[in-house]
Amino acid sequence: MILVTGGAGFIGSNFVLDWFATSQEPILNLDKLTYAGNLENLKSLEGNSNHIFVRGDIGDSELVSELLTKHSVRAVVNFAAESHVDRSIHGPSDFINTNIIGTFNLLECSRKYWGTLNGAIKDNFRFLHVSTDEVFGSLSKEEPAFTESHPYEPNSPYSASKAASDHLVRAWLHTYGLPVLTTNCSNNYGPYHFPEKLIPLVIHNALQGRPLPIYGDGQQIRDWLYVSDHCSAIRCVLQRGQIGETYNVGGCNEKANLEVVHTICDLLDTHKPRGDGHSYKEQITFVADRPGHDRRYAMDAGKIERELGWRPAETFESGMAKTVAWYLANTQWTQNVTSGAYREWVEKQYVGAA
Ligand code: NAD
Ligand code: DAU
Repeated sequence: MILVTGGAGFIGSNFVLDWFATSQEPILNLDKLTYAGNLENLKSLEGNSNHIFVRGDIGDSELVSELLTKHSVRAVVNFAAESHVDRSIHGPSDFINTNIIGTFNLLECSRKYWGTLNGAIKDNFRFLHVSTDEVFGSLSKEEPAFTESHPYEPNSPYSASKAASDHLVRAWLHTYGLPVLTTNCSNNYGPYHFPEKLIPLVIHNALQGRPLPIYGDGQQIRDWLYVSDHCSAIRCVLQRGQIGETYNVGGCNEKANLEVVHTICDLLDTHKPRGDGHSYKEQITFVADRPGHDRRYAMDAGKIERELGWRPAETFESGMAKTVAWYLANTQWTQNVTSGAYREWVEKQYVGAA
């Protein structure tokens, strides 16, 4: 059995669903169910005894230790985190608690548990930490993409907390020998993406006839990866990754934010045209920039491709078409997650814009 933390969130739930498409191995899913965690994402697993869900905090050492022992866990995959940069600017403390202290607790519980194992079971144990390209900081237009040896230069409370967690993971290998692996991935998109993030927010606002908020000049660049490609990369690193190595994961899809929003508008204009026949682009609104906004991220995913044979299956075009189609077919999902707490967030973040 593997322990997946944060498996009710965007990437975690996609990972759990994709896992059962190819494997019978059970998953123990530990998730605190913050505003970002949603069991509705896992509805299709109801009645599947290979999926065991536990609501709890990765910072709860008693619970984590008990789960590791009781279920003879052979690997931990750590998705659990506070993940939204804008929220980290408004209130960093949850990011420190979960991303740093929570990861520390998970490492300590795993180290103690691993210390009780013997032989092949001990040798085969893995702790895979899911991290981000944001730990490397920001690139100018001319600079080459981030490689695994790029210095850590995080600029937001979110990325600083993820960088700290990556350092803890590294230290638990070097000091205690815990068999760790780290993946640093670029921006994901796809089904079950909470509509506080750019792509699902723009789809949702467009359909609601609301402004599509672009921070600053909209020329910030991100490298977009369809979420199932991130999931396949994690499975690949878990199976074949070398202990102690870090692997960059990316889609080779560098796009300026404005271009991403135009792509969404074009897809919606085709598949769900506005009643008045005008383009959704008319709803684009430039708003105040994010403080400390990183200008460009780009990932060199050459190592994982060369050493482990991983490559993304989706292009930006095919992934975006699937994503827009999913949101059009699942308006109820968006409706369910955009109530109470979500509306409060939107009012705080987009005063007078969204
Ligand atoms: P998300 O915010 O959608 O989901 C996070 C999940 O973690 C939620 O289900 C939440 O309930 C759970 N959680 C939060 N605090 C917890 C705690 N203390 N204990 C247990 N569970 C807790 O995030 P996501 O976008 O799915 O990201 C998952 C991971 O991947 C994060 O570590 C993030 O840093 C990393 N990552 C995300 C992206 C991206 O583009 N979204 C890219 C690269 C890396
Ligand atoms: O790069 C990986 C990271 O990608 C992950 O580690 C984070 O968990 C994930 O949230 C994501 O971070 P970003 O800040 O890049 O994603 P977000 O969707 O919040 O924003 C994408 C870009 O769009 C960014 O340049 C900010 C901009 N933006 C975002 C929102 C929500 C807007 O212009 N308007 C918006 O309303």
